[in-house]
Amino acid sequence: MTIIVTGGAGFIGSNFIFHMLDKYPDYRIVCLDCLTYAGNLSTLAPVMENPNFRFVKESITDREAVYKLFEEEHPDIIVNFAAESHVDRSIENPEVFLDTNIKGTAVLMDACRKYGIKRYHQVSTDEVYGDLPLDRPDLFFTEETPIHTSSPYSSSKAAADLLVLAYHRTYGLPVTISRCSNNYGPYHFPEKLIPLMIANALNDKPLPVYGKGENVRDWLYVEDHCKAIDLIIHNGRVGEVYNIGGHNEMTNIDIVKIICKELGKPESLITYVEDRKGHDMRYAIDPTKIHSELGWLPETKFADGIKKTIKWYLDNKEWWETIISGEYQNYYDEMYGSREGMK
Ligand code: NAD
Ligand code: DAU
Repeated sequence: MTIIVTGGAGFIGSNFIFHMLDKYPDYRIVCLDCLTYAGNLSTLAPVMENPNFRFVKESITDREAVYKLFEEEHPDIIVNFAAESHVDRSIENPEVFLDTNIKGTAVLMDACRKYGIKRYHQVSTDEVYGDLPLDRPDLFFTEETPIHTSSPYSSSKAAADLLVLAYHRTYGLPVTISRCSNNYGPYHFPEKLIPLMIANALNDKPLPVYGKGENVRDWLYVEDHCKAIDLIIHNGRVGEVYNIGGHNEMTNIDIVKIICKELGKPESLITYVEDRKGHDMRYAIDPTKIHSELGWLPETKFADGIKKTIKWYLDNKEWWETIISGEYQNYYDEMYGSREGMK
């Protein structure tokens, strides 16, 4: 079995590669990643010497490079994690999101049609459903919830999902799609809420909470997401969408307070800043379908997962310190320097 994992040098893709090489020692895993600011080859160092692993530095938007890889590897399965993934960046510069997330997905699926594969899996997001109001805790996203996006990021992911379903209906491509809630865990890029707050707290820097910090996200430990995708690519029904989430809704401010408490840092570091434009209020997944069809349930409780995550950031300071001392510093200054509250 040969699986091409795109975007495998990023947060979830790298965790997925570790999971698969560990669980299926006879599978060949090929990582296709062009190493944007979010891709980090040092993350994959533990598997670089594994004879069943190959890293290829190319973009999913490069048709020639993608076709060449398919000719070389004859993959059985494609799992597409490669994407521009940060909402704030999409608000500043939407174009690259359209290119990577939409065009890149089309190029991969064209290669699948040309060379033939057993399964194309699209890693999507709960953000394609838009958001839910805070005063309706009874509402959840199901697979039937209409697509209703807010940001250029979520719109580009929704467009890709529609293309994937169109390639299934029009060309009979054997596809599946998963839509997961917010992940956290090791190798999470420090521009995202949890790793950013851990890094800033450890450096005694302000903790920038958007708006009132009341927005709700449904947090899932990354390993649970990887296990769900593993189940879908092996046992999921072709043409189907599966929502992934563990009923773990929390407000942003509560998350930041937990991080302060775990690290022994004062809550006075919390700084309320200008809100994100078009900020989604609440995400909440109904995972009934993946549970009843594939038997998936999350295994890591948030109280344990956040401790493990914080310990990982403490034990692997070099990984994130290298990131925040490099080019990322310019992004941080641009994104937060001008924000009301951080000036
Ligand atoms: P990430 O930003 O950490 O990693 C993205 C990876 O894709 C990087 O390694 C980057 O180099 C690579 N990449 C970007 N453009 C590429 C291109 N043109 N060609 C090849 N590689 C390219 O992202 P993540 O948080 O690991 O998210 C992975 C996927 O999961 C994304 O599709 C995202 O939409 C989805 N998702 C993320 C979350 C979350 O909470 N992080 C939740 C649900 C779904
Ligand atoms: O729901 C799945 C999505 O989760 C994925 O599709 C995206 O790729 C992933 O980035 C994530 O999107 P969010 O926008 O929810 O994640 P982020 O970590 O950027 O923000 C989480 C919440 O925290 C959100 O309400 C905004 C808020 N926030 C974020 C940052 C970076 C702050 O209050 N302060 C911050 O500095």
